[in-house]
Amino acid sequence: MSDAPKSQNIVWHGAEVTQAQREALIGQKGAVVWLTGLSGSGKSTVCRRVEQKLLERKKFVYVLDGDNIRMGLNKDLGFSPDDRKENIRRIGCVAQLFADAGAIVLTAFISPYRADRDTARALLAPGRFCEAFVSTSLEACEARDPKGLYVKARAGKIPEFTGISAPYEAPESAELVVQTEGKTVDESADQVIAWLETNGFFA
Ligand code: ADX
Repeated sequence: MSDAPKSQNIVWHGAEVTQAQREALIGQKGAVVWLTGLSGSGKSTVCRRVEQKLLERKKFVYVLDGDNIRMGLNKDLGFSPDDRKENIRRIGCVAQLFADAGAIVLTAFISPYRADRDTARALLAPGRFCEAFVSTSLEACEARDPKGLYVKARAGKIPEFTGISAPYEAPESAELVVQTEGKTVDESADQVIAWLETNGFFA
């Protein structure tokens, strides 16, 4: 698929009210924290804990979560390389819109391909995108197997399963490496929050 819109005769409309004005209203800056990692690595768990903690600090935060998005917006997509690419493309666009609204967006998708993550990054102004690699090893994910999917994948019952029969391209220069092995959920969540704080998103 070409990157250009299919529609012709469309014009981008700038807004009268700016992102900066919305941000001043709510006292924070819009950002996207893009968690990437294997299934079972802890992306959703960390996102949910960050969400809770930020809500307690009265921050406007929104989580886009893998399985939930695949039940609605992306219900027409499977797990082929092309479908995963389209999955991440759409989610990147949604995340961009939320960040433009002033939200701190947390995304929890395997997003196994480097190029697709870079596409999502390119939609945001420099500094507003944090790639957070949830670096839990395959061995640990497989031992946790919270949804029983690794057992099924090993038995050949799930084709193209990330880490088993489909690739995962680990980030090479992520802003954050979130470790979950030997850490509490709170510790992992605090790593993300510290990044947001250090980079001035709560100003
Ligand atoms: S992504 O690769 O396109 O980014 P996404 O994060 O949306 O994947 O969905 C991953 C979730 O779908 C996994 O956590 C798992 O619950 C489920 N799943 C079902 N089939 C597969 C598969 N073949 N590979 C990976 N995850 C799968």
